[in-house]
Amino acid sequence: MAETARITLSRPDDWHVHLRDGEMLAAVAPLTARRFGRAMVMPNLVPPVATAEAAASYRERIVAALPAGARFTPLMTCYLTDATDADMVARGYADGVFAAVKLYPAHATTHSAAGVTDIARVRGVLERLQEIGMPLLVHGEVADPDVDVFDREAVFIDRVLLPLLDDFPALKVVFEHATTAYAVDIVRDRGDGNPPRLAATITAHHLMITRNAMFEGGIRPHLYCLPVAKRERDRVALRRAAASGDPRFFLGTDSAPHTTAEKESACGCAGIFTAPAALELYAQVFEDEGALDKLEAFAALNGSAFYGLSVNTGTVTLERVDWVVPATVPLAGGGAITPFLAGGTVRWRLADG
Ligand code: DOR
Ligand code: ZN
Repeated sequence: MAETARITLSRPDDWHVHLRDGEMLAAVAPLTARRFGRAMVMPNLVPPVATAEAAASYRERIVAALPAGARFTPLMTCYLTDATDADMVARGYADGVFAAVKLYPAHATTHSAAGVTDIARVRGVLERLQEIGMPLLVHGEVADPDVDVFDREAVFIDRVLLPLLDDFPALKVVFEHATTAYAVDIVRDRGDGNPPRLAATITAHHLMITRNAMFEGGIRPHLYCLPVAKRERDRVALRRAAASGDPRFFLGTDSAPHTTAEKESACGCAGIFTAPAALELYAQVFEDEGALDKLEAFAALNGSAFYGLSVNTGTVTLERVDWVVPATVPLAGGGAITPFLAGGTVRWRLADG
């Protein structure tokens, strides 16, 4: 009998994840901590994590939700609002509370009502970030209701990102959850430097689905997220970028849990919950691309280099064994979360348990 194929990588990081709070945090944090050494934790709680005090206390709640012995470090982000104080941000960064600032255009996505209404209002903060070398993470979509939902990323690039890169030539920017071939091109064109000044995270789901998946045989709320999945040519461009080993692209799941009830609704929340199989899904994609040898760069090396952090010590091993993603992840209070590919088969599995 043929031996089971295995791959071992330096312990990877998830550079974009939603861990939520309370019973949801308790249910999802162990899933991320099992696979990743660090994660960049998004600040879109209600109310948003917009001060260093709030981030420090959220970090404590995350650590308290981890299983005993977990080797996992949450990296905290500051939710940028029109009123954010540049001194507070710089102090939080110097004190090691904040790792980055997150820009949500107001009303672009889930819990973004407190986001930035106009870049002009946060110029002071951006100048300070540029000065101290603190990264800005952007949700790259305009919220303009006149712009077609499938064009919001491209319009953001033209209206907001390109002027921002010109106005702040030394600002380090991560274009989060890139979904278009256009975004890939821009990150390649403008991500000069070593480490690059502009990089992008790519989710597992945007490597796997197109917008068709949301409508296959009926409406599929668990495949709805923002930015919404795009066309096949976009998916192909994302897969090539991720699998190329290019240091400007790295792993960020954007795993975004909502209860099954909040998703299966007349007005369902945006967010795809990939945490129960995140690393395994990327392995499957990289195998399909004939690029398993590039998975470590994408998952463990490129993001560390961008953020100026050392690569995690320790490794994870994946084995090529089929397993079935759980139909639901239960919540303590009785509800549940439906994962991406619930009840479906994934080809790679974590070897350590
Ligand atoms: O689909 C999404 N869900 N996109 C986001 O930007 C936010 C996230 C969430 O917090 O649910
Ligand atoms: Zn997100």
